[in-house]
Amino acid sequence: MSVLSIFAPAKLNLFLAITGRRADGYHELLSVVVKLDFGDTLHAEPAAEFSLRCDAPELPVDDSNLILKAARAFAAATGWNGGARFTLEKKIPTGAGLGGGSSDAVAALRALTRIAGPKHALSPGELFQVAAQVGSDCPLFLHEGPVVMRGRGELIGNLPSGVARRLSGRRVLVFKPGFEISTPWAYAQLAAGAPGTYLAADVAEKQLAAWIGNPAAPAEALLFNNMEPPAFAKFVALPVMLSELRGRFGMQPRMSGSGSACFALLQDDSPAADIEDALRAGWGTSVFAIQTRVT
Ligand code: C5P
Repeated sequence: MSVLSIFAPAKLNLFLAITGRRADGYHELLSVVVKLDFGDTLHAEPAAEFSLRCDAPELPVDDSNLILKAARAFAAATGWNGGARFTLEKKIPTGAGLGGGSSDAVAALRALTRIAGPKHALSPGELFQVAAQVGSDCPLFLHEGPVVMRGRGELIGNLPSGVARRLSGRRVLVFKPGFEISTPWAYAQLAAGAPGTYLAADVAEKQLAAWIGNPAAPAEALLFNNMEPPAFAKFVALPVMLSELRGRFGMQPRMSGSGSACFALLQDDSPAADIEDALRAGWGTSVFAIQTRVT
């Protein structure tokens, strides 16, 4: 078998409401998540054992990497005793809230499904369970197009196609400062927060239903993320920049997921070059910025 190459897209949470804490320590959420026409590429070929190489030297390639976690979970669930040599072309920044590690893990599951063949195939439901076990953000990458995510991330539904069309194809600028935000840290801030940190589930559902039910409401009217306040309180460079972008360019930038990446939907006449200059002026030259599209 020749080398398989699988695209692992980045994601954005256009709407993210953390609605409460669960007895198991995880959080309940309601989110609208889109995938981007920007991401990593995972190459995989059959081998005696599992191994991983990556072109980003800072990324761990041991068993802490979600690609190898996914591979071991696949082998355990199917009883397959083969292996694969994975090579990752890393483009999605880490510690960004862009789902890079989770997307890579699902790309590994897709690759292994083909390498292991039909004798070791999982049903769609089983594949979903393996993905959810690897990470809360993994199941969404098994779905095409914009999705609604509930539970701790394992309950995925599609948006009605007419509604998804309001999002798909939109041009978006994704940008990230030189620092990362750890997801467990961000959730821990919410858990330690004052009353009112969480958005009540019924309020979140009403907010989302109102947007879905109004065909005239653009993607901009959906944007929401209640993980922003605790992140903005510590990482003040984020709100300072987002406020500058709002004031100078009339944009509505938001943070994605638990950060530190942010994004803004672009209009045809958005002065993207000036915006990127403002990002570099405020956050320094280590800033990451990419123009892409919602798929
Ligand atoms: O599921 P995953 O391992 O990706 O989650 C990483 C961490 O993020 C968890 O250990 C937990 O602290 C937090 N988390 C959470 N609620 C979620 C998803 C993640 O509290 N729904």
